[in-house]
Amino acid sequence: MIYDNHNRPITYLRLAVTDRCNLRCFYCMPEEGIKYLPKHQVLTYEEMERVVRVLAQLGVHKVRITGGEPFVRSGLMGFLHRLAAIDGLTDVSITTNGVLTAPHVVDLAAMGVKSVNLSLDTLDRERFRKITRRDELPAVLKTLDALLDAGIQTKLNAVVMDGQNIEDLRPLSELTRSFPIDVRFIEEMPFNGEGTHYPVLYWTHQRIADELREFFPDLQKLTDSPFSTAATYQVPGHLGTIGIIAAFSRTFCGTCNRIRLTAQGTLKTCLYDNGVLDIRAMLRSGASDTELIAAFQKAFAHRPLNGFEAEQQRDTVTESMATIGG
Ligand code: GTP
Ligand code: 5AD
Ligand code: SF4
Repeated sequence: MIYDNHNRPITYLRLAVTDRCNLRCFYCMPEEGIKYLPKHQVLTYEEMERVVRVLAQLGVHKVRITGGEPFVRSGLMGFLHRLAAIDGLTDVSITTNGVLTAPHVVDLAAMGVKSVNLSLDTLDRERFRKITRRDELPAVLKTLDALLDAGIQTKLNAVVMDGQNIEDLRPLSELTRSFPIDVRFIEEMPFNGEGTHYPVLYWTHQRIADELREFFPDLQKLTDSPFSTAATYQVPGHLGTIGIIAAFSRTFCGTCNRIRLTAQGTLKTCLYDNGVLDIRAMLRSGASDTELIAAFQKAFAHRPLNGFEAEQQRDTVTESMATIGG
């Protein structure tokens, strides 16, 4: 196991396999999309697999595949198969928007993918089209059905947006009544790829919880797992849980066990840093595993204690969540 300079274990890698996406969620990117990386700047699957092997030797045992949208990159399933076989890796999970995912769900279950987090902000087709600028709700619902049928642990991520999907809080929460699903409401963060900062957060964790209590007065707080980003609640008798991710108003820095690798092979040791190590350059200039390990150890020894506070000092953010990998 490897610890950082603040004694936090590094056990969880968020790996963005692409920065491309087939939706245009307005809180993530503008209508015209973001300036995508040229192909040669994106790590190959072989390069990613090598990085994961090295990190697994250092004690990383969980990898969450993110993007962009992972399933827009061809060959993803073959890559996942190879990841699943890496020694020491006990948890391969995926965050997806679900548009292209349904046909792969049976295979994902067969290879032991632990959990799938599905981004879904509304159950209403028109609101979905407005938020994502694409008419793909039916495809996403097929994925949700397939995941539940396959018995894969499923978390549903809904970003809470004033004036957009507040009326969805109730129907989305209702899904927990008969399905063993974790529905998580997320505070909107200022990563929309346009450099427009959101100075006011209308729907804070507290306000979301108050709204939920309006229709579920007996909502109970559960104990959260140690590294969870969500505060978890449950309506007594419901099969699933309801979570609130205070992504913007709260910091998870104290217990943060995660690092990120962007699609272009930049290591981020914090959601809010600008990248601390160019892994792609090392890989492509012939670095040995020993050199990679030494570089990771050095980066982990210089992790900021609280990147969130530094973020609060910046006035504009131009990155899209699709570039950061969530
Ligand atoms: P698991 O614990 O593996 O299920 O991951 P997760 O819930 O963190 O991952 P997911 O990809 O579903 O992301 C859910 C939301 O949490 C997204 O809006 C992420 O951007 C946000 N998030 C993930 N990691 C962090 C983090 O380190 N800090 C903050 N503030 N938000 C995060
Ligand atoms: N604020 C909060 N969450 C966001 N996501 C994307 N952009 C933002 C944002 N600006 C969420 C997506 C997805 C997860 C990886 O990140 O909904 O579920
Ligand atoms: Fe695509 Fe996810 Fe960004 Fe929506 S939030 S545009 S689904 S990467």
